[in-house]
Amino acid sequence: MIDLRSDTVTQPTPAMREAIARAVVGDEQEREDPTVLELERRGAALLGQDEAVFVPTATMANQIALRILTEPGDELLAEESSHVLIYEQGGPAAFSGLVMRALPGQAGRLAPEQVAGAVRDWRSGHSPRTRLVCLESAHNSSGGRVWRLEEIDAVAATAREHDLRLHLDGARVANAAVALGVPAAEIGRRFDAVTLCLSKGLGCPLGALVAGSGPLMTKARRAKHLFGGAMRQAGIVAAAGVYALDHHLERIADDHRRARRLGESLAAGGIPVDVEAIETNFVQIDLALLGIGVADALERLRAAGVALSDTIHPTRIRAVTHLDVSDDEIEEASDAIPRALGVLARA
Ligand SMILES: Cc1ncc(COP(=O)(O)O)c(C=O)c1O
Repeated sequence: MIDLRSDTVTQPTPAMREAIARAVVGDEQEREDPTVLELERRGAALLGQDEAVFVPTATMANQIALRILTEPGDELLAEESSHVLIYEQGGPAAFSGLVMRALPGQAGRLAPEQVAGAVRDWRSGHSPRTRLVCLESAHNSSGGRVWRLEEIDAVAATAREHDLRLHLDGARVANAAVALGVPAAEIGRRFDAVTLCLSKGLGCPLGALVAGSGPLMTKARRAKHLFGGAMRQAGIVAAAGVYALDHHLERIADDHRRARRLGESLAAGGIPVDVEAIETNFVQIDLALLGIGVADALERLRAAGVALSDTIHPTRIRAVTHLDVSDDEIEEASDAIPRALGVLARA
């Protein structure tokens, strides 16, 4: 099976497993695990922040950030299909008592005017205090779309003007950085807090970082403990993260190249793909024009040896490239997908 469902499906490489086996570990809860501390140091630098905190998942990293940047009853602004709003089980309400306000986006992005227009006059005493804007880049539901630096700056300037805090769900910020051709720190430093997931494009079995200023990360460590994320000999896992920062950052460009190659081949083969929308490692196929339902399409593709996945869009499925997909498999998938969907194979 060529597994293109998500970049979360990767297996640790043999070299990563060796790094895991060699890890020097200690009690992470007591901040005695040298490998975790090393990963946190490296992660903070990568993300352009003073400190970083290692946590098990990007969901926890996001939820910690939202918690420490707000008070219960505050209002969170985010794009309507963003991960924090639709894929984290209402965590911002459940864990932090936040009112969640969904704004319609363009390819996952918001305009500064939308943010300015959404800020409530809380001083009147009736409204929740609009307090936090959460952006996502690369943006999952839009198909891995990326915020340009000047777009972030425009929203950040508006946020500061209205005394709002700014969080980046940068689960795939490494992909965004590669797409923009800038260091991830150039993106991360523009935010109060930033999440990075280690188990997507970076290929780790698990783990994530939340980064920010020193005082904010002191709060993050408390929230991590509160959420049950303070671990023990976590260097076993952090070693994979250190390895990935050394060996898997630059190769993300290969995933992007392969996604583009797949998208172009599919488009040439008559599959409805918007090639211009491929900015990172996602390829979205719109089945509406083919008259095939999502469940039917996914079943036919599986039977042909290619696994894709559904999206929040009722007619769109996606293919995601990652560490475990080779150039040859992209060529195979480029032939198999049109055949499985009943479209003539590519020229
Ligand atoms: C944009 C984004 N943020 C956060 C997450 C959460 O990651 P995890 O499921 O590993 O907690 C994901 C996972 O798909 C994601 O795509």
